[in-house]
Amino acid sequence: MKRNMAFISCVVFTITLAALVSVSAGRALMYPLPSSVPQAEKKPMQTFRAYNVAHRGSNGELPEETAPAYMRAIAEGADFIESDIQATKDGVLVCMHDVTLDATTDVADRKEFADRKTTYEVQWVNTTGWFVVDFTLKELKTLRAKQRFDFRDQQYNGKFPPITFEEFISIALDAKRTVGIYPEIKNPVFVNKHVKWSDGKKLEDRFVETLQKFGYKGQYLSKDWLKQPCFIQSFAPSSLVYISNQTDLPKVFLIDDVTIRTEDTNQTYNEITSDSYFNYIKDYVMAIGPWKDTVVPPEDNYLEKSTDLIAKAHALGMQVHPYTYRNENSFLHFNFHQDPYVEYDYWINRRGVDGLFTDFTGSLHRYQEWTSSSEKQLLQKIASMVSSRDRS
Ligand SMILES: *[C@@H]1O[C@H](CO)[C@@H](O)[C@H](O)[C@H]1NC(C)=O
Ligand SMILES: *[C@@H]1O[C@H](CO)[C@@H](O)[C@H](O)[C@H]1NC(C)=O
Ligand SMILES: *[C@@H]1O[C@H](CO)[C@@H](O)[C@H](O)[C@H]1NC(C)=O
Repeated sequence: MKRNMAFISCVVFTITLAALVSVSAGRALMYPLPSSVPQAEKKPMQTFRAYNVAHRGSNGELPEETAPAYMRAIAEGADFIESDIQATKDGVLVCMHDVTLDATTDVADRKEFADRKTTYEVQWVNTTGWFVVDFTLKELKTLRAKQRFDFRDQQYNGKFPPITFEEFISIALDAKRTVGIYPEIKNPVFVNKHVKWSDGKKLEDRFVETLQKFGYKGQYLSKDWLKQPCFIQSFAPSSLVYISNQTDLPKVFLIDDVTIRTEDTNQTYNEITSDSYFNYIKDYVMAIGPWKDTVVPPEDNYLEKSTDLIAKAHALGMQVHPYTYRNENSFLHFNFHQDPYVEYDYWINRRGVDGLFTDFTGSLHRYQEWTSSSEKQLLQKIASMVSSRDRS
């Protein structure tokens, strides 16, 4: 029932959105969702090549973590849509990357919230701004998203509200083909300090409950998982360990820059990438998600020699899903000649990564389609024929 409600609100939202966007010069086509394709008839997700993970949706084109950004990513061929899950003051899980709303919404222009600006300590740094944890869902929904980077398309600023974790899930489930979700337990130490649920549960508990409510379960590549693929990610290892008794969904341990300590266990980069730590964490996670510049560090914007991080993870049976791939010149190292396809080629074929977080799902998808050998495409066709026979 709840799911139907979410579904209906998504339909209404989609229609509104289509109207909005067709008015706004029609420079970018919107793709109507949801579909009415029954689960059993959906095209399965590909599992034979590196995963295309739509980082905060197709946020290179549309404001991050909004419904249109996710819908666009699905239309462009994402295997997974990715999101950061935090909680509002009234305990509702929402999609938002930063703990503050300043960089990606119009909150600073809203007089009614002027007194909400404050300073909190976030991961040992005093941070000033408007915090998600100080807004109720109702208040948050009155805000409008904006593009984070000023060199990206600003025409969609002010149009779309933030969305809840449940709305995010509905967008994936309503897609015409099988689309996975890749939600992150975001800033759990900070959120759990500021948001209290009456039943004493934590962000991690609410997060898993939500996934279970929508039927997400099963180990990597199990039948249940293939129906509704999901990777759970976090920079906080203790959150991943904590939920290991609650869900067998595959988990991904995110690894930050070399200078940043883990927010929960206060460990250094060297500690969490040591052999002994990898040996410990591999029992809880099926992949690591490192920042790509720690895997192959750059110097003067040229790549240096690759570290052995990928080889070490692979040797222990863990996949590697680095972040974040971005098309713009300002993000591309000079080795790639300002060509994002050369960067994809390097990471997929030279480094052998198993998934990529990209701001430009469409580019990664086209790169992968155009470079797939016909042999691989044939194998994929056979695999999808076999799996559709299994389902009937
Ligand atoms: C943050 O600011 C408060 C109040 O000024 C101060 O007591 C605290 O030490 C600061 N914390 C950090 C990490 O700078
Ligand atoms: C999970 O449950 C087992 C068995 O009850 C227990 O030994 C283990 O410590 C639990 N792990 C976590 C992370 O709670
Ligand atoms: C984290 O560990 C470092 C090194 O042991 C220590 O100096 C620092 O106080 C710790 N920080 C916290 C918040 O525990």
